[in-house]
Amino acid sequence: MNAELVVPPLAELRLRRSVKWRAFPEDVLPLFVAEMDYEPAPPVSEVLRAAVTRGDLGYYAPGPELGKAFAGFAGRHWGWEVDPARVSPVTDVGVGVVEVLRQLIRHGEPVAISPPVYPPFFDWVPEAGGRVLEVPLRDNRLDLAALEAAFATHPAAYVLCNPQNPVGRVHTADELAELARLARLYRVPIISDEIHAALVLPGATFTPMLTVPGAAEIAIAVVSASKAFNLAGLKCAALVTASPAMARVVDGLVVEVGERTGHLGALAGVAAFTDGDPWLASLIGTLAARREQLGALLAAELPALSWIPPEATFLAWLDASALGRDAQPRDHFLHEGRVALEPGPRFGAAGSGYVRLNYATSPEILAEAVRRMSAAVSR
Ligand SMILES: Cc1ncc(COP(=O)(O)O)c(C=O)c1O
Repeated sequence: MNAELVVPPLAELRLRRSVKWRAFPEDVLPLFVAEMDYEPAPPVSEVLRAAVTRGDLGYYAPGPELGKAFAGFAGRHWGWEVDPARVSPVTDVGVGVVEVLRQLIRHGEPVAISPPVYPPFFDWVPEAGGRVLEVPLRDNRLDLAALEAAFATHPAAYVLCNPQNPVGRVHTADELAELARLARLYRVPIISDEIHAALVLPGATFTPMLTVPGAAEIAIAVVSASKAFNLAGLKCAALVTASPAMARVVDGLVVEVGERTGHLGALAGVAAFTDGDPWLASLIGTLAARREQLGALLAAELPALSWIPPEATFLAWLDASALGRDAQPRDHFLHEGRVALEPGPRFGAAGSGYVRLNYATSPEILAEAVRRMSAAVSR
């Protein structure tokens, strides 16, 4: 049994300069954006400290290290055999998805996504010159019948979120196999955003899209150490392909897309993928404990909120519609409870009445947040 990860005292957390700690006044507990409160994995801290000490803060130098490190990680964790030469660094997951979409979309073509989903999906598509075609989840799962109907209209691509943020669902191997079959049948390329893959919690199993039979021909995966190791500010992700056809799409990107990768992000990503397993095991144990704690707190103090505990991620998708307030529940929790959550409607129309809560924090902060939310409800 690994010890739980420690969270620095609140006063120290407030010294952080990232968006989580700057967006709201000091009296607000920030449980909105997907940043974690834990201290970094020791191999990551060491490699970053050493880089700063030697003044190694220049440009990223493309090389084989990230591909090799990710291939090792994917093999150990998911039995996924990745060709390191087919791992192409990019600035971040958002840039990776947008640049691949630019290759696939002719102006104004639709791109399918399945809300509720990570809000930037709605922005990445028009940024790349397309328009969003919504194929909502059904009961938190991919609606494969609706996806078939949508694919039959030949959208330029489908952007998959696996595991799915915000609902925390890990799509099953069978669901992904059917998705891959449909994609091949209708020739709809899939961009699989797998940023939360290493955050699958006990009880669920992650299936990388490119391990699904037939998917390699039609899918590109976008991966990063940034979510599981809390490195978002360092800017490093990668596109992974496993067929000549999809490799050609990535090879079509201008070379600067790879060169804009963060040098420190690549150093940290290599360290995380190579030596981060022990810390990651502690993180998963810690998050599983917080998920359980949150369930107990909600049952005891906020029974009006309902949820399906996530299978992955540190994000809880809470249905607050029973509160029956006209105002967004997020606004009420912020103004009356001084707790910042993500507003559900940002994730699509199905998010109306929902809030998303980030529980990657200490047991004390989580308990205080729920206490404040509960007090806000009775106001
Ligand atoms: C599903 C998903 N994709 C992408 C991102 C952002 O990744 P990046 O910062 O590498 O663009 C997030 C951040 O939370 C996310 O949840």
